[in-house]
Amino acid sequence: MRALLVDHSAPRHLRLGEAPDPVPAPDQALVRVAATSLNPGELTALADLPGGAVPGWDAAGVVVRAAADGSGPAEGAPVVTLGLAGAWAELRAVDTAHLGPVPGGADLGPISTVPVAAGSALRALHRLGPLLARRVLVTGATGGVGRYAVQLARRAGAHVVAVTSDPAGSADGLRALGAHEVVGPDLATEPVHGVVELVGGPVLVAAHALLLPGGTLVSVGRASGGESVFTGAAFEGTFLPDRVITTFFLPASGPGLGADLAWLAARVASGELDAGVAWRGSWTRADEAVAALLDGRLRGKVVLELD
Ligand SMILES: NC(=O)c1ccc[n+]([C@@H]2O[C@H](COP(=O)([O-])OP(=O)(O)OC[C@H]3O[C@@H](n4cnc5c(N)ncnc54)[C@H](OP(=O)(O)O)[C@@H]3O)[C@@H](O)[C@H]2O)c1
Repeated sequence: MRALLVDHSAPRHLRLGEAPDPVPAPDQALVRVAATSLNPGELTALADLPGGAVPGWDAAGVVVRAAADGSGPAEGAPVVTLGLAGAWAELRAVDTAHLGPVPGGADLGPISTVPVAAGSALRALHRLGPLLARRVLVTGATGGVGRYAVQLARRAGAHVVAVTSDPAGSADGLRALGAHEVVGPDLATEPVHGVVELVGGPVLVAAHALLLPGGTLVSVGRASGGESVFTGAAFEGTFLPDRVITTFFLPASGPGLGADLAWLAARVASGELDAGVAWRGSWTRADEAVAALLDGRLRGKVVLELD
């Protein structure tokens, strides 16, 4: 099969080449991949992978061989899939617990953005508890996870405060997604019940300071790469008790992932959720797409089509 392979002699550590077809385990379906989306975390990890490896987390496609143990969808079903490798290839063997059926006829390009970005947004919001009539802060709101988190928090009945480094340029778009307020990194807003935190550094510290008693901050990512330095007073609970900072890792976020991916994919297919695709093109242009994403020129998701 053709695949995007790790090649450390290539400028972006990737080249389109030939790799052996994957051999599915009994609880894995074999999927013919139609589209994959890129995540910043997997791109920065490429330099550490062995040459010849087939990376990739997100893929959407069609089942060409159902799992031998009888789990998961039948041959011919369109699906969205998550794994820690193997998405950037014509064929992917994927655990049936980590795939979800997709409505027939759906455009698999935007659907391929669902696993990491929308899955993380949904499951991070679950950790905040009920959202109806609560104030929720989303940092890094213009990114892949952030855009989905804004939309999902709004659907769940929260008052949504979106944080972006560029409020002037991004406010209209974020309000269109459902944000009630758009603020800059100074986080000039009232206290909140919950935070989906994607930026790290001083933004994490400032977001924690906004938490109400009993509030939760889910630290999902650290897009800025910055360090977070707290004063001891941040953790004195006399006046602001029971505030929690918790960590998050999507593949270890508990059972039911396939059902969550299916629910999210159906909403993208119907247009209820906007996948925010900022770049879409052939996987033969992968270098161009990777460069645009890593250079910070894009806000939103990159989709590669396996044509
Ligand atoms: N733990 C997990 O399981 C998990 C799952 C998914 C993602 N993540 C992590 O979550 C973070 C967000 O992921 P994503 O896919 O949404 O990333 P993304 O599409 O690149 O978006 C990140 C957003 O963060 C903001 N940002 C602020 N300072 C930045 C900086 N110095 N460099 C880049 N972005 C900056 C940007 O929004 P503004 O300019 O509008 O502020 C940007 O749109 C990443 O760190 C990713 O690795 C973790």
